[in-house]
Amino acid sequence: MVRHFLSDLDLSVAEHTRLLTRAAEMKAKPKDFRTALGGKILAMIFHKSSTRTRVSFEAGIIQLGGQAIVLSAKDLQLGRGEPITDTGAVLSRYIDGIMIRTYAHDDVVALAKASHVPIINGLDDLLHPCQTLADMLTIIENRGTVKDQQLVYVGDGNNVAHSLMLGGARNGMHVRIVAPEGHQPSPTIFAQAKKEAAATSARIEVTADLAGVEGADAVYTDVWASMGQEAEAEERKRIFAKYQVTAALMKRAKPDAIFLHCLPAHRGEEVAAEVIDGPQSRVFDEAENRLHTQKALLELLMRD
Ligand code: CP
Ligand code: NVA
Repeated sequence: MVRHFLSDLDLSVAEHTRLLTRAAEMKAKPKDFRTALGGKILAMIFHKSSTRTRVSFEAGIIQLGGQAIVLSAKDLQLGRGEPITDTGAVLSRYIDGIMIRTYAHDDVVALAKASHVPIINGLDDLLHPCQTLADMLTIIENRGTVKDQQLVYVGDGNNVAHSLMLGGARNGMHVRIVAPEGHQPSPTIFAQAKKEAAATSARIEVTADLAGVEGADAVYTDVWASMGQEAEAEERKRIFAKYQVTAALMKRAKPDAIFLHCLPAHRGEEVAAEVIDGPQSRVFDEAENRLHTQKALLELLMRD
């Protein structure tokens, strides 16, 4: 049966462990995997901008011996109203996998239902599961494990926060979201994460109180206005102003806490320059790890 990666919960704990181990092997010895996906073609559909996702997937499949076709949604008939289900049915007759970055999570689910090849969620308004894979590898590199690590996410409780909650809960990582009222995570995702956490003893918490940073092994933030929310950017700057990750806020975390950000970042908004450019920051390792974790994901989903 064709496997998809639409949500962090599409991989079991054992698969997460294997994938992250494989990603570390691929990072250490990239030349050993040059033919892992020989002849395979990945299509990538973008309704939103991307630097890391686009380049790491394209470079990744090339490094595994395959090729990528990058498709801007506006150049496809999709942009003129062709149903996403027809697009999926047709593309899956030409290629071996599809990565999509779009708005509605339901569109990603609909595409998967119509596709005979694996669909990968490269970010939608609800989730960013590929990002969480890279975040977990980065935490493992710095702390040895994600199990029982305390990640504190400060900022907007949307796609990146949701995936951290689900992926964290599944893998036994404690995730606390510190977000202002009105911008806290979806109750549905919170309930899903709590259910997962019951099996792994992860603690999943949501608060508006910045004291939530205390005890953090990793402090994480993301932009205040996500793609599609540009019109609200000024209002959001006011709402989130006291949630900036500053050096003073980092001092409330553990002394050896690392700082993570999915990027792109806005210095002086969600994070102070001295934090993201400072010694606790691991943001460029984290960005690099998109490549390695996605190569392991492509291998898991697309290998014969
Ligand atoms: N973090 C991330 O997904 O970056 P891009 O938007 O550049 O792909
Ligand atoms: N929350 C951000 C993440 C970008 C990688 C957005 O959706 O724009």
